[in-house]
Amino acid sequence: MFPALAISDDIKARLDIVDVVQRYVPDLRQAGRNFAARCPFHAERTPSFYVFPERQSWRCFGACATGGDAFSFVMKAENVDFGEALKRLAAIAGVTIPDKRRPEAPRNPLLDANDAAARLFRESLLADRGAVARDYLKQRGVNDESVATFGLGYSPATGDELQHRLRAMGFSQDLLIEAGLLTRGDTGPIRDMFRGRLMFAIRNDRGEIVGFGGRSLDGSNPKYLNTPQTTVFDKGKLLFALDRAREAIRREGRAVVVEGYMDAIAAHQHGFRNVVASMGTALTDSQANALRGSGAAQIVLALDADAAGQEAMLRSLHSVWQLLGQSLEGIRRAGSLEIKGRSGDLDRLRVAVVPEGKDPDDMIRRDPAAWNRLI
Ligand code: UTP
Ligand code: MN
Repeated sequence: MFPALAISDDIKARLDIVDVVQRYVPDLRQAGRNFAARCPFHAERTPSFYVFPERQSWRCFGACATGGDAFSFVMKAENVDFGEALKRLAAIAGVTIPDKRRPEAPRNPLLDANDAAARLFRESLLADRGAVARDYLKQRGVNDESVATFGLGYSPATGDELQHRLRAMGFSQDLLIEAGLLTRGDTGPIRDMFRGRLMFAIRNDRGEIVGFGGRSLDGSNPKYLNTPQTTVFDKGKLLFALDRAREAIRREGRAVVVEGYMDAIAAHQHGFRNVVASMGTALTDSQANALRGSGAAQIVLALDADAAGQEAMLRSLHSVWQLLGQSLEGIRRAGSLEIKGRSGDLDRLRVAVVPEGKDPDDMIRRDPAAWNRLI
């Protein structure tokens, strides 16, 4: 978008230093117009570490007496050089560092619109009107770190605020409709797609925000509303949290699939980092493929115990099984359905039967050890 800018400026322009620091310093708290925490770089009892959103900078006024921008923060926090910090921040910002050998594919402008929307959702979550969503998150045990890392937010209830703000930033109405952020409806004006909802940013495996899920907070239907299909959002090809789960999946050789956003967030928050969410539907072939591609030799399906969950489970089994090229021979055992492949490769697909009446989310929050045993 700004070819004249250095890539580091482009990355900075797309990031909020508060988000970046919060990934490393979950205790970072708002203090007036700024944010404060105990300094991550030296031991102290009272916060002398500040982040200044307006200047997009940080400073430790205590023993370190040092400060800087998002790059210097990551260099210090990760003990890496500038080039490595650039790579890490590029990944977070969803910026592709141009490969000198290949011409850079132009970035889809829908991604810029989604980034801007996500920042606005986050901002309104932290503002006064976000109290309803903040209370809800608290009641469901979602901590500030999860809010930051999963890009949670609140969509203003007025119905036109997102449109006004994003258009003021230069995004056209047509583009915002194409991104699924505005909706035309049958009659009447073009309105914000998401109104008064708790927002979940949905990222692809490169960490780019490709769409959103919005949960109603007042019992209205539908409970969850998603971005419609766009040029960057295809629900059947995405897995929620895969970008954050890849490393753990590769390390453990195993991926766990749950149904809902909240299930995946609860899992990650409790340290189960190989968990992804299928977003309520049966696992498709391309999702199963993505898991295999991330290094999952074993896939564990942990879908809800309700009827819809079991239905999805059966269809998921079909996809995964086709992929594994096995034939089915299921045996029901105490609490778990074990599938045996004829070739004797017994261990590649497992089904975890979540106890009746519970979501993985409930179970993980109440008894993480029981979840661990189940998996
Ligand atoms: P559920 O309706 O089972 O909700 O949808 P849930 O996850 O238990 O919701 P909470 O716990 O009450 O908040 C399961 C998942 O299916 C996806 C969402 O990812 C949701 O978390 N979903 C469901 C959609 O994306 N769109 C829908 O219309 C419905
Ligand atoms: Mn639930």
